[in-house]
Amino acid sequence: MILVTGCSSGIGEAIGDLLIKRKSYRVVLTAREQSLAKVKARFPESDRVRVMALDVAKSDSRKAVIDEIQKSWGGVDILVNNAGISYRSTLEEMSDEDEHLQMETNYHGPIDLIRLSLPGMRRKGRGKIINVSSVSGMLAMPTMASYSASKYALEGASEALWYEARPFGVNVSLIQPGFVKSHSFERVRFSTQSQKTHLGVGPYAGVYQTMEPFVANLMNHAWATPQSIARLVQDVIRTQNPPLWIPASFDAEFFYYLRRIFPRRLLQPFLYFCLPKTAAWGGKYSHRRAQMIWPFRVIRSWFQKRSDAIQDQCDEIENQQDKS
Ligand SMILES: NC(=O)c1ccc[n+]([C@@H]2O[C@H](COP(=O)([O-])OP(=O)(O)OC[C@H]3O[C@@H](n4cnc5c(N)ncnc54)[C@H](OP(=O)(O)O)[C@@H]3O)[C@@H](O)[C@H]2O)c1
Repeated sequence: MILVTGCSSGIGEAIGDLLIKRKSYRVVLTAREQSLAKVKARFPESDRVRVMALDVAKSDSRKAVIDEIQKSWGGVDILVNNAGISYRSTLEEMSDEDEHLQMETNYHGPIDLIRLSLPGMRRKGRGKIINVSSVSGMLAMPTMASYSASKYALEGASEALWYEARPFGVNVSLIQPGFVKSHSFERVRFSTQSQKTHLGVGPYAGVYQTMEPFVANLMNHAWATPQSIARLVQDVIRTQNPPLWIPASFDAEFFYYLRRIFPRRLLQPFLYFCLPKTAAWGGKYSHRRAQMIWPFRVIRSWFQKRSDAIQDQCDEIENQQDKS
């Protein structure tokens, strides 16, 4: 029995499309109450397909779904934690409440569903947990601090769980999409403050106003689609021992190797250089002192060290001459 969260759009909907075609699968496709009618219209229920209401950010909703599956089908065999939200806000402009919802949806909810499903999987001696993560779980981008934090947390917990669940025959995988050609960036949320700033003025206005079209452009030109990510999820379901980390698009592979190969000292300055119009970020709100850009700083300090070394040698020669 396969449980998939967040099936009302994007990747979750594409996963549902693939899974209901396979006659040997029993599937529970879930959506929040407000999206349930749409999902029921798309996925007609049958003796092997059920559509249930699940808000992953609510503990009683999570428990009710797992209890119902336990009663009807004896528990979850494969859990696909796909539902997720993304805030567009700088760290400073996030509110506590928004931070909480971001973490509850992308981290606490999926982790609790794992906790509720795992005992049954252990008892059967088999099971799969597939967490849809993101490139943001390996590299963080400006205006996505909280989203990144939620995906980093999911990655960390999944990595630990991989070791813990392995002796019981339970497999854990992280699907890591990069930019996906979909409408999900239109569903991005704003904190109260970032909602104001991204349309108006303020210290971070330039960051939003350049990052928004930049991300939209990358998503519009991405090769990966919800359907290609869904096919990968299906492959993981059908593979006996899938790996833990599964980069799900070309850019995800690229960033994975970039992070591994590029010296850490150079990675952030390089990525900062690649971001749009950073020279204008902060604008008149920035009071930082003029700084020498880092390559010149490195060259200056190298010359400084050389001249100090030469000076030391001269002093030593002079000392020796004085003695003789
Ligand atoms: N698209 C990308 O570029 C991209 C890249 C990397 C990773 N991802 C990850 O892929 C996953 C799916 O994203 P997507 O692109 O398919 O986004 P999407 O089109 O916005 O779909 C997100 C789904 O999650 C559901 N959801 C949101 N909050 C929920 C909650 N509290 N309880 C239950 N369901 C909830 C939404 O349902 P409602 O209709 O009820 O809101 C929707 O079905 C997410 O985990 C996302 O972080 C996406």
